[in-house]
Amino acid sequence: MHFFSAAVILLTLALTLPVEAGKCPKVCICDSSKLTVSCVGKTLTEIPPTIDEITIKLDLRNNNLKELPRGAFIHTPYLTHLNLQRCNIIRVKEGAFRTLGRVVSLNLAYNKIDILYQESFDGLSSLKELHLDHNRVEEIQPGAFTQLGFLNMLALTHNQLVYIPNMAFQGLNNIKWLRLSYNSLNNLAPEAFAGLFTLSRLSLDHNELQFFPTQTMNRLREVTRLDMSHNPMIYLGEESISMTKLTHLYLDHMSLQDLSGQALSGAPLLSHLDLGHNQLRYLEPLSGPKELKSLNLTGNPVYCNCYLRPLRQWASAGGVKLLGVCVGPPHLSDEPLQAVAPLDLRCRSRGEALKDEFDKDDDSAGSTPPTAKPKPKVKCPVNCDCDIEAQHATCEGQGHTKVPRGFPAKTQLLDLRSNHFHHLPANSFPGTSQVVSLHLEFCKIHEVEGGAFRGMKNLLYLYLSDNDLTSLDPETFAGAPELTYLHLEGNRLAQFPRSALALLPSLSVLHLERNAISKLEPSSSLPSVTPNLRELYLTNNTITTIAKGALDSAYLVTLHLDSNQLTEMPSNALSEAPNLEELSLSQNSIRWVGPFAFQTISQSLKRLYMDQMGIEKMSRDALAGLGPGLRSLTMRGNQLEELPDLRPLTGLEVVDLQDNPLMCDCPLLPLRRWMENVSLEVTANCGHPPELRGQSVRDVHVFTSCPESISPPGKNVVVALKPQKVKKPKPSLSKVPALKAKPVKPKAKLPKATKNRPPRKPVAPRVTKNKKTFS
Ligand SMILES: *[C@@H]1O[C@H](CO)[C@@H](O)[C@H](O)[C@H]1NC(C)=O
Ligand SMILES: *[C@@H]1O[C@H](CO)[C@@H](O)[C@H](O)[C@H]1NC(C)=O
Ligand SMILES: *[C@@H]1O[C@H](CO)[C@@H](O)[C@H](O)[C@H]1NC(C)=O
Repeated sequence: MHFFSAAVILLTLALTLPVEAGKCPKVCICDSSKLTVSCVGKTLTEIPPTIDEITIKLDLRNNNLKELPRGAFIHTPYLTHLNLQRCNIIRVKEGAFRTLGRVVSLNLAYNKIDILYQESFDGLSSLKELHLDHNRVEEIQPGAFTQLGFLNMLALTHNQLVYIPNMAFQGLNNIKWLRLSYNSLNNLAPEAFAGLFTLSRLSLDHNELQFFPTQTMNRLREVTRLDMSHNPMIYLGEESISMTKLTHLYLDHMSLQDLSGQALSGAPLLSHLDLGHNQLRYLEPLSGPKELKSLNLTGNPVYCNCYLRPLRQWASAGGVKLLGVCVGPPHLSDEPLQAVAPLDLRCRSRGEALKDEFDKDDDSAGSTPPTAKPKPKVKCPVNCDCDIEAQHATCEGQGHTKVPRGFPAKTQLLDLRSNHFHHLPANSFPGTSQVVSLHLEFCKIHEVEGGAFRGMKNLLYLYLSDNDLTSLDPETFAGAPELTYLHLEGNRLAQFPRSALALLPSLSVLHLERNAISKLEPSSSLPSVTPNLRELYLTNNTITTIAKGALDSAYLVTLHLDSNQLTEMPSNALSEAPNLEELSLSQNSIRWVGPFAFQTISQSLKRLYMDQMGIEKMSRDALAGLGPGLRSLTMRGNQLEELPDLRPLTGLEVVDLQDNPLMCDCPLLPLRRWMENVSLEVTANCGHPPELRGQSVRDVHVFTSCPESISPPGKNVVVALKPQKVKKPKPSLSKVPALKAKPVKPKAKLPKATKNRPPRKPVAPRVTKNKKTFS
């Protein structure tokens, strides 16, 4: 039916809009040599239907479009630049841009868009820049950006975002800069930025984050610049920032009163740190950054007495430039920090120091030792620090052997990591019913008694990672029914903790990496234990066998089984996992992959990782069933001489075939042809014959002598003998990509995905054939 109506549209167009060179809507200005059309400020309420089809740049700023309907740009399929700023747009209907496969820049700034729907940006498969700033976006629906695999820059500044859910930016496989400044963000889900492996710059300034979102940020391995300025953070504790490539960090204009000397211990490459305009009176030397060049303390009330001396000496020794001035004592006031000699940083006798303090009428003046945290003014256990405003309490690394009691009733984040609890008895956390997030990492816990967390009825996040647990009591989580994110990685669990998990109906993300689990038995089958589990991480256990159906689950989206001891593909274990999108099997030792190994999950799978598995041979049909839905495939570091048929994988955005000893001879011709055909960079090298070893499959000439058409050991015949030339767009209506029936995508919460989903729509034509990386 859709096809029929599309055909009718096309037919109607053909009858009413004969193509004439140089036609131009009345209200617009057209340049037929540059192929640009500009209709700025004309109070247009719809896109003029008579814009010349061959237009490349279309400027529609300052109009009154209100809603962009499906197929809004069907008349102009060759656009590369589209400007829709200030058009009063409230809603972008799904499929609005579906015909715009060549657009590289889309500007939707200064409109009134409030929700980004799952399909709002479908079809923009070449888009590099998307401007959505100055709108009213308060919700990003799952999958909103999945089609934007080439996007480099996304601007969402000046919107109304409060929370970023897990996987919000999924699909942005080439994103470099993500701009979220000037929103009202106060919470980022731990996996909010998951999958953004290419992100190098992130702007989160001018938001309402009260804590540094350590866990979320740790996922961003490639980020070099992070702007967090203008967020109301008071304190940065040990190891708050663990970002191995970070070079520039902006933490100015926050409310920092204290910053641990270990806060940046996980940022070894940091070269510029801006701490301007905070409330810091002193600062400990910073351990971690080895290449720090400048430390900006401008606008802080830095008190230049003996407590600042370690910082000053450290800065001189390490060549760190200190910016800012002393506020006192009087004889040093306004003196640049860089100019004060360490020996001038003195504390006078205790009496004088005290007098100084009274004069200043300030409780944290010069004589407070530098390690003191802002003074608690509320009830708070000994050796803990409770911040009533931030609803945050921490007793991190204080050598506690029992869980302290008496936290403020409103505490939402309770940080007890790095203590020595050994054993957690029942009811260990009375009066903490408001706590949402509980940290118990590195506490040497080997036993948790049933009911230990009883009463924690709002607990969503529980971190029990890096303890000594060998098993879990079935009642462990009794009384904490909301628990959604559970971290048990880095323990010594020998079995999947089936019975304990059965008390957690809401569990969605489970981390079990680095344990000693050796098998998954049928009794631990997920639907019966944790029916809502979406992400399961079992990396680095000792799993050798997985029973049939053990991992079947209607909701499971992510499954990591890498670094285990599997010797066979776990195909049987996944016979009913209709929503699985990401599967990692890397670093197992599976030598042979048989035909149809992924058949049961082929409809949903988007990312498949099979690196370093010692695979020697794959059936030509090993990947059969997988099609355009697959976005990432890695098979790096195996022993493959031949590859399975990759041609059906037309939606790949990332493919890594490196470090395989490929046999560069005629049977590899289909791969070579495929590489010429796809619009992404494929690296694959020859391992054989010896004279070609190390050369790129793309560069060797051996294939020119192969018969023009060979039948590989399947029955597929190679077509497209010569690489096709890219033709210039010619104005011809027949080239307008037709609107196709929209594929039904499984919704996140669908109990069962439709088995026979229609194939994905074809990708719209691209401008260049071999698209390399943008930057
Ligand atoms: C130091 O920080 C202040 C305030 O954040 C800023 O205005 C200034 O430009 C910074 N100076 C340098 C050299 O980065
Ligand atoms: C697995 O865990 C062990 C112990 O935690 C660690 O030493 C090792 O590096 C990990 N292996 C991988 C492949 O991550
Ligand atoms: C190359 O692409 C064309 C058009 O998409 C397709 O028909 C052909 O089968 C492809 N050839 C190979 C070797 O993948």
